[in-house]
Amino acid sequence: MTSLPSSPKVKTLLDEGLLQQARYVCEQAAIAAAEWRGLGDRMAADKAAVDAMRSALMSLDISGKVVIGEGERDEAPMLYIGESVGKGIGSEVDIALDPLEGTNFCASSTANALSVMALSPRGGLLHAPDMYMDKIAVGSNIGAGVVSLSQTPKANLAAIARRLKCEISSLQVCILERDRHSELIRSVRECGARVRLIGDGDVFAAIATNDRKSGIDVYLGTGGAPEGVLAAAAMKVIGGFFEGKLICSNEDERLRAERMGIVDFNMLYGIEEIVRSDVIFVASGVTDGALLDGVRFEEEGISVHSIVMHEASKRIETVRARLPL
Ligand code: FBP
Repeated sequence: MTSLPSSPKVKTLLDEGLLQQARYVCEQAAIAAAEWRGLGDRMAADKAAVDAMRSALMSLDISGKVVIGEGERDEAPMLYIGESVGKGIGSEVDIALDPLEGTNFCASSTANALSVMALSPRGGLLHAPDMYMDKIAVGSNIGAGVVSLSQTPKANLAAIARRLKCEISSLQVCILERDRHSELIRSVRECGARVRLIGDGDVFAAIATNDRKSGIDVYLGTGGAPEGVLAAAAMKVIGGFFEGKLICSNEDERLRAERMGIVDFNMLYGIEEIVRSDVIFVASGVTDGALLDGVRFEEEGISVHSIVMHEASKRIETVRARLPL
């Protein structure tokens, strides 16, 4: 992971206490999900993570509002978009969440299942339905002004190769393995670049563009909008470039999005449009992965590995907490 240069403290509504509380919330969700690792029941694992995340959020001294996450009230009984969370005292914050990112990974006990959350002062995060989003992400070695969803994959790959002074054939593009991506995969391969297909987990894939060891130069394709907001929150702290475009799959989704204030469905959202204020990003490992270790149930207690990021204080740290059994 890129380490950030230290910089003077910026005044922020998000403080140290909130950072620790956010980590506690993801730890609780990760532990609950981990109980379901490898049992083949992704829905039960997800429900356990949602229940635990909600109950942890409700104990916090915040006046929180879920602005993007599990779905809307009629389809998500808990942590639905618009739900108020916390004790209703303290900081007014917007919350983006995914209690279990990678439900299949958890059910099959494979790498990279995470519990993830981002917090920002009220109005700081994109408020949208649980819809799809076209995404492109590159690390800080490439930065802004090189790629865009407004360009073809071919033009983006050529621009990256120019920036990195390398051949397109040495670039690796990470794409979710979905039928909807068959044309994208074909065109990337036609340019000579390599494709790394992933079954799930595009929050991690976007973040991994900043980690040279991952070998991922660019993440491309359509995934969940909540995962897009979470990835943008992390990348606002780590660096790199992220762009997203909301995709309306039907008229109902369009109306729901309009009710949340989205009027321009052609808009390309950069990091600053998705995360408009200071932000905290936290992820806790459920299963072992490249970013974090999974939860360990040990005699002395439960060990949870998390990454905590805060934009204003320029903090990125991993924490291994030991919680009572
Ligand atoms: P879950 O956490 O619900 O399992 O979602 C994982 C995920 O792969 C995300 O990382 C990605 O954004 C989204 O699903 C893609 O959605 P779909 O599976 O509908 O293509």
